[in-house]
Amino acid sequence: MAEIIDGRAIARQLDETTKAEVDALVEAGHPAPGLTVILVGEDPASEVYVRRKIKACEKVGIKSTEHRLPADTSQDDLLALIDTLNKDSAVHGILCQVPLPDHIDTRLVLRSISPEKDVDGFHPVNVGRLSTGTGGIVPCTPLGVMMLIHSVIPDLTGKDVVVIGKSNIVGKPVANLLLDAEATVTVTHIYTHGLPEICRKADVIVAAAGAPELVKGHWVKDGAVLIDVGITRQETEDGKTKLVGDIKFDEVQHAAAVTPVPGGVGPMTIACLLANTVQAARAAMV
Ligand code: GUN
Repeated sequence: MAEIIDGRAIARQLDETTKAEVDALVEAGHPAPGLTVILVGEDPASEVYVRRKIKACEKVGIKSTEHRLPADTSQDDLLALIDTLNKDSAVHGILCQVPLPDHIDTRLVLRSISPEKDVDGFHPVNVGRLSTGTGGIVPCTPLGVMMLIHSVIPDLTGKDVVVIGKSNIVGKPVANLLLDAEATVTVTHIYTHGLPEICRKADVIVAAAGAPELVKGHWVKDGAVLIDVGITRQETEDGKTKLVGDIKFDEVQHAAAVTPVPGGVGPMTIACLLANTVQAARAAMV
């Protein structure tokens, strides 16, 4: 039986460390780290994510502020708000929830956030720092993926890792982190020829294609470690919804370890956002 990697438990441990760091900063006379979340419009999924992020801040002592803007907010007004937040020394992290309404240029907005406050790690400066191994803020989901892999494989040196998915948010940054950890990395995607054969050689598979149940049991070698970043909402026959990952979970009992969906990568993303906020606050203090 494959070990189930408990993302919730590992996220809780990280939250404890983050809370201890926040407490230490406050005890030393510093202000509590501050995270500002911007939500434009009323996308229901975004509302849920933002609520979770704000609640998570409370648990570890991060001071959160929310800016809820109407869907018809102009791009200029949004940029002006970000400019104000960039200059506000009580704000250490700025997160602008995406997707943004169609009339707003998302790339321009994300680039307007100061790289030092970009707790998502989406700014090109942070992307560049990551790809050259020179620090910066690492995107939350890739950071969480690395922690989950390290929980079962402390040393990745020379391991064959296949990443499925080439997004800027997960596939590309996770490939860079894996390279920095001395793994041999193959980056693939849904158009890759011979994907099953490539996966069968992998010691670790990171599935981040957003393609439900893409990875079948026969794609996975005995003893592999499987990290499932996919999360797709599907209707069941009785009209309920269930969350499905990119890995056919029922077929991979011969793996050494696998992350569940939900309860694997998801909880790590928010815990890493909190950790990034504390990192940004500390960096602002030196
Ligand atoms: N929308 C969905 N996930 C994310 C995220 O991690 N960061 C931002 N800014 N928006 C999102």
